[in-house]
Amino acid sequence: MGQTIVIASGKGGTGKTMFAANLGAAMVKRGHKTVLVDMDTGLRNLDLYLGLENNVVYDVSDVLNGVCRIKQALIKDKSFPGLFFMAASPKPDDGEITPLHVKVLCDKLKQIFDYVIIDAPAGLDDGLVVAMGGADEVMMVITPEYSSIRDCETVTMTLKEFGIENVHYILNKVNTKLMKAGLAPSLSDFPRGITERMIGLVQQDENIHISTNMGVPIVFMKDTYISKNFDNIAKRIEALQA
Ligand SMILES: Nc1ncnc2c1ncn2[C@@H]1O[C@H](COP(=O)(O)OP(=O)(O)OP(=O)(O)O)[C@@H](O)[C@H]1O
Ligand SMILES: [Mg+2]
Repeated sequence: MGQTIVIASGKGGTGKTMFAANLGAAMVKRGHKTVLVDMDTGLRNLDLYLGLENNVVYDVSDVLNGVCRIKQALIKDKSFPGLFFMAASPKPDDGEITPLHVKVLCDKLKQIFDYVIIDAPAGLDDGLVVAMGGADEVMMVITPEYSSIRDCETVTMTLKEFGIENVHYILNKVNTKLMKAGLAPSLSDFPRGITERMIGLVQQDENIHISTNMGVPIVFMKDTYISKNFDNIAKRIEALQA
């Protein structure tokens, strides 16, 4: 039985979609059959970051509304065997999809895949609650900004109210120069609740930005230190279940 990992954040633009695409790539490189599911309904981007925007026929809403079967909505990434993708609907959800629908979908996907990685919308809206429907683990992507830290704490509290405790944190867009100069919060400025459950750091690097524009996860590019970063994060996530 696989695991469902939801990638969330308080603030928008912290790097959730970038992280989801590269975590999926890292899991596939480690031999795990993985599906990336875009649940950022209405504001989907994951198809672009994977370079699969022209392959989308059916999406999550089509599956949940019975328009197609799960297998029809699964897009096989031909460049990277083992990686599959399911797109979000391009239209905002009209409230018909419930967390229970998503749980049922995740349970079915977990019978096929080792990892079901869900790219959730930012913030606290209903979209997040729906995306969390099948969560076994939540990875919150934060950036070294006080606004990001505060929003992340708020979302963590709300998740607790929903009974979701399995939350870990990824610090993205790390700029060590700014941190050393005291111009961005460093790890000692983060609340202990976050640092104690931090599972990895990803540097601010323009190559990451380029890779999202090119539609190829940077983890699939050869010989980057970022790929090693993600491999370590993937190993730690594997260890959470051990
Ligand atoms: N570590 C990084 N270094 C440089 N650029 C990054 C990094 N992480 C993400 N980016 C860039 O930041 C932008 C936002 O990333 P992304 O779309 O993944 O964020 P998001 O949290 O999914 O946003 P949204 O809340 O809108 O869904 C993108 O242009 C992406 O290329
Ligand atoms: Mg996104």
